[in-house]
Amino acid sequence: MSVAMASTPVVLFTEQEIAKRVMEMGREIRDDLEDVRDVIVLCVLKGAVFFCTDLMRAMKLGAKLDFIQASSYGSGTESSGVVEFLKEPQVVMTGKTVLIVEDILDSGLTLRKIDDYVAARGAERILTAVFLDKPKARKVPFQADYVGFEIEPHFVVGYGLDHAEAHRDCPEIRILPG
Ligand code: IMP
Ligand code: MG
Repeated sequence: MSVAMASTPVVLFTEQEIAKRVMEMGREIRDDLEDVRDVIVLCVLKGAVFFCTDLMRAMKLGAKLDFIQASSYGSGTESSGVVEFLKEPQVVMTGKTVLIVEDILDSGLTLRKIDDYVAARGAERILTAVFLDKPKARKVPFQADYVGFEIEPHFVVGYGLDHAEAHRDCPEIRILPG
């Protein structure tokens, strides 16, 4: 951890709290999907990588994994509102159950666009799992099927979440001092 982060006081969720909650989410998803053949996990780069690898190991469903990358933030802490795809998945989604795994649901613009994209690729069923949810920050309506924790609309970092690419490797979720 950098010196700046070590002196940041506000830890929202500790490593232990994160691990416990992700394990619970994985078990819940396994219970819901264990009879489904060919589950595809679509991990949203880059932030969700940390959450996704933990979640998949808790799910233990033998799911396929692919990645999509969307960008809307640049280096700021406010969404630009324009979502572009920087990487598209290769996996065939036609007729499949696709679980989109995202680090945080904020304005809803990113997941709305990814959800529409996955539907257009022919998925039969689309589910979303987000580690964090800021329900008060929505600009478009969107509800995730699985939510780790609901938070107030702070800008947070750690466990994959960045600010201008920094702090992704911080094992806790911390509020970025404004
Ligand atoms: P949305 O499109 O506004 O819902 O934003 C979703 C994306 O914005 C996420 O994939 C994150 O990359 C980023 N984001 C939103 N809130 C935060 C935050 O508090 N910290 C870091 N990244 C965030
Ligand atoms: Mg990000």
